[in-house]
Amino acid sequence: MTLWHGRLEGGMDNALAELSVSLHYDIRLIVEDVAGSHAHVDGLVGAGILTTDEADVLHGALEQTRGEILSGVLTSTPSDEDIHTLVERRVTELAGDLGARLHTGRSRNDQVATDLRLWTRTALAEVASSVVSLQEVLLQRAKDSGSRYLPGYTHLQRAQPILLAHHLAAHAWALSRDVDRLCQSVHRLNVSPLGAGALAGTSLGINPDATAAALGFNHAFTNSLDAVSDRDFVAEALFDIALLGVHLSRMGEEIVLWSTDEFAFVTVDDAFATGSSMLPQKKNADVAELARGKSGRLIGNLTGLLVMLKGLPLSYNRDLQEDKEPLFDAVDQVLLVLRAVTGLYKTLMFHEEAMQGAADAPGAAAIDLAEFLVSHGTPFRQAHAVIGGLVAESLRGGATLSELVANHPELGTDAAALLRPGVAVTNRTSPGGAGPIPVAKQLLQLEEHLKLENKAVSALPVLRVR
Ligand code: ARG
Repeated sequence: MTLWHGRLEGGMDNALAELSVSLHYDIRLIVEDVAGSHAHVDGLVGAGILTTDEADVLHGALEQTRGEILSGVLTSTPSDEDIHTLVERRVTELAGDLGARLHTGRSRNDQVATDLRLWTRTALAEVASSVVSLQEVLLQRAKDSGSRYLPGYTHLQRAQPILLAHHLAAHAWALSRDVDRLCQSVHRLNVSPLGAGALAGTSLGINPDATAAALGFNHAFTNSLDAVSDRDFVAEALFDIALLGVHLSRMGEEIVLWSTDEFAFVTVDDAFATGSSMLPQKKNADVAELARGKSGRLIGNLTGLLVMLKGLPLSYNRDLQEDKEPLFDAVDQVLLVLRAVTGLYKTLMFHEEAMQGAADAPGAAAIDLAEFLVSHGTPFRQAHAVIGGLVAESLRGGATLSELVANHPELGTDAAALLRPGVAVTNRTSPGGAGPIPVAKQLLQLEEHLKLENKAVSALPVLRVR
């Protein structure tokens, strides 16, 4: 029997039933759906619609239903279109007439919006906490890397030597913006739609503020139309995850590159590598490639949702049911990637010699030569041209850059000393720069920041389950 058997005659065509059903995925909202119903039942007591004894029966039936669904003993029937229908059907079997009162003053429209906000709240907190775990690994690896350095790149051309710690910390700072965004999104989504009804509220004396408080929301909606139609929180969650995915993709691409024989900056631990089914010598960085690959899917989830939303008139439209699968998928996938990338970085082997060898090419200190001239009074643009000329001359052969510098009247042996291996990186002394002095300070700042992030994440609202 459908929920609307009084209005429509006969059963649903199979084609519609199969199109309409969402239980196979929205069953994931079971905990949130039952929590919302508990709050709603208490709200009906407050409105004088149920007695406390009646409410107790419903609370008991809801708990039993939740247990049966979570343990898999409750089997669904074809008319259990979604999680809300299934729970209501079972509660009605258990509590008889009282079950038929459960949906008083409520619609699946405000119900599903409530459930999904609760689910997203918990899911984003889990994603944020997994990001912090990855950042902690990056910080640890940065601390352990001491004075090791590698070339920093622009345009994927060697540019200037930088500390490995600086490079690893750069990824951690990008991730800290992800954590911040996830926390902000949780705060913004933490508004209860429950009590909006189908779209316009109800004539019954329910109090949305009370149900909002019971579910740990900051406050209730102020406009019932907006409450049932707003999926901004899903779009925001998908954007946060898509951008996080882009950061993870960039990290993945780097490991793919660094683990090639051409770079040979790192070796991926065997536990995070795969072999080839045909080529016996192969060792592939599949974790890094999947981190890169999954980001396309995460962006797809966001764009799919935005396109679905863009043409909808107010207020609830069934199209909105298409919000859940991209959201569930994005959360599942990004959690998988985070766990694997965290393990990958934890166990990654860095090859000091290859990194430092690449960073010690004399050209890498060219800017230091120009700045040497600047400190002796030459305007920077002129200094740039002089050093550029020497680099070009050295590339033509005959004399090395070092020799040319040592013999240059305005440069000499003091300037040539700047070209010695490992010197250039120590000269990156400006705040936020890539040398040992600012990096030591930066790692302390990162450590402090991670403490704040941990605090912020653990202060995110959680759903209290009965
Ligand atoms: N399964 C539906 C969804 O996810 C629940 C709301 C259905 N409401 C309706 N009026 N048909 O959006």
